[in-house]
Amino acid sequence: MTDHLHTEFHRMQDRSTKEILLQQRAHVFWFYGLSGSGKTTLATALEQRLTDQGFKTKILDGDNIRTGLNSDLGFSDADRLENIRRIAQVAKLFHEAGIIVICSFITPKRELRAMARKIVGPAHLTPVYTQASFETCARRDVHGLYAKAEKGQIKQFTGHGSSFEPPEAGDPDWVICTDELSEEDALACLHQRILPMIEFPSVIGL
Ligand code: ADX
Repeated sequence: MTDHLHTEFHRMQDRSTKEILLQQRAHVFWFYGLSGSGKTTLATALEQRLTDQGFKTKILDGDNIRTGLNSDLGFSDADRLENIRRIAQVAKLFHEAGIIVICSFITPKRELRAMARKIVGPAHLTPVYTQASFETCARRDVHGLYAKAEKGQIKQFTGHGSSFEPPEAGDPDWVICTDELSEEDALACLHQRILPMIEFPSVIGL
């Protein structure tokens, strides 16, 4: 399928040039976890804080992307794989443009997370697991989806008809327990860890 194509990446401005212009280090933070575990809440709060500090960011969010780019996809294993594949490619484009990308997708399988990291480049993507139990998410039920799934009105719902694999020991993933931390504390903890990764190094002595 990629026959007869002549890529021109080498003639384009590269990421380090963009990073100098934007005075920031690009990175992809990939929030994943059950529906209602706090991914979008944390992603938007983080973006607000980083924007206030002058960083240039872009959020890619499941529900939004599924109304546009991925509106042709459902929730079978194959469609979830294609969903994540396309999003990782988009995240990579933003990353190459020097942007701090905040992704927010259930990304239920380790295989999917590994694929996203491979596409973006392992050094450039940090997986962040927003951990909350199925019971907590079902209790929060922000959009009424758990109640619908319980009544059989949503097929292949994550955690109810479609499985979710948490990270395993040894995975490089960060874990934020939204079960235990307040939104404010979770944000403070994340922000503190993220900042040194995205700040542009100042040249001492000039
Ligand atoms: S993923 O599994 O492919 O990563 P994604 O994050 O894009 O999922 O989309 C999840 C969003 O779709 C949820 O926030 C929820 O609002 C909606 N949704 C609709 N149907 C389902 C379903 N069967 N399972 C999970 N989420 C669903």
